[in-house]
Amino acid sequence: MNSSPVLIDGFGRKVDYIRLSITDRCDFRCVYCMSEDMQFLPREEVLSLEECSRLVKAFVSLGVKKVRITGGEPLVRKNALWLFNEIGHLPGLNELVVTTNGSQLEHQAHDLRRAGVRRVNISLDSLDERRFRQITRVGELDKVLRGIAAAKQAGFDNIKLNTLLMRGINDDEAIAMVAFAIGQGIDISFIEEMPLGQVSHARDSTYVSNEETLKLLRSRYDLIASVESTGGPARYWYVPNTNTRVGFISPNSHNFCESCNRVRISSKGELYLCLGQENKVDLAPLLRQFPHDDEPLKQAIVSSMQAKPKGHDFNLKRAEPAVIRFMSHTGG
Ligand code: 5AD
Ligand code: SF4
Repeated sequence: MNSSPVLIDGFGRKVDYIRLSITDRCDFRCVYCMSEDMQFLPREEVLSLEECSRLVKAFVSLGVKKVRITGGEPLVRKNALWLFNEIGHLPGLNELVVTTNGSQLEHQAHDLRRAGVRRVNISLDSLDERRFRQITRVGELDKVLRGIAAAKQAGFDNIKLNTLLMRGINDDEAIAMVAFAIGQGIDISFIEEMPLGQVSHARDSTYVSNEETLKLLRSRYDLIASVESTGGPARYWYVPNTNTRVGFISPNSHNFCESCNRVRISSKGELYLCLGQENKVDLAPLLRQFPHDDEPLKQAIVSSMQAKPKGHDFNLKRAEPAVIRFMSHTGG
């Protein structure tokens, strides 16, 4: 088995984590993520689940240790479970995790756990049914809460909520969200809104910095900074005498690019070297031209590392988003 890292970029960063979007579709339409009349990819452009599996296996053979399956909403993809079963117990893959809006977990949590999924991140922005509907445009809070209950029962190593606060919409729920996470015995991270895709609101008027949220939470909880690093853009704090950690993912105010260890693959097979930049390599033609030979694919992945940019350049005040791509295209 290959144990030495193969994927090293031009700045010496080791890439051992991929985030693969298996669909750009979603059963929600969160206002910060999608436009109301979102256009989705024609189905024939989306990678087949077999192609997704080949991709994951190629990356793992090149030293990737962690795979996150994302979307859109990955669990609305038909037969998604097939893919999880296919890759869940791959030798060399230490961690298979999934990011979901929770709407399908009620029925899928146990199967995902059995397939080898270790951790789930569940997006949850409000505990108020009416607001939840306002933010997701179509989502049903109860269904997600039942999904969270099912995930707890299924026995994942870790469950984490992802919460995005927007000024004037749900920014008064930070403490309530943390209290909920404590009550559930799970973790929670606050994510700052990123300028991805053109949405219907002005992002600099709804933007809430994590600095502000942290300050507010510290007025209520004795948070203790965690020294351990997750290798990702999150900083964590413990809530004493609970099982809950509070994380802050701060792409706008905290530059974490120096230690970036990840790349993303869109649902149509584009390898994006950075969430906030255009640099990409299209892997779909290689999958299709060489259906029985993974070498050309692997070579393309190895050389793509030279195209990984030093960092992103988000600026909420720019009229046009720096990156026109929505999160649901690149994968959250
Ligand atoms: N900025 C920050 N996070 C976003 N997400 C979707 N769009 C954005 C954005 N523009 C997050 C959601 C969800 C995850 C899949 O991606 O909050 O938790
Ligand atoms: Fe769907 Fe997640 Fe985007 Fe909401 S944030 S529309 S749940 S992909």
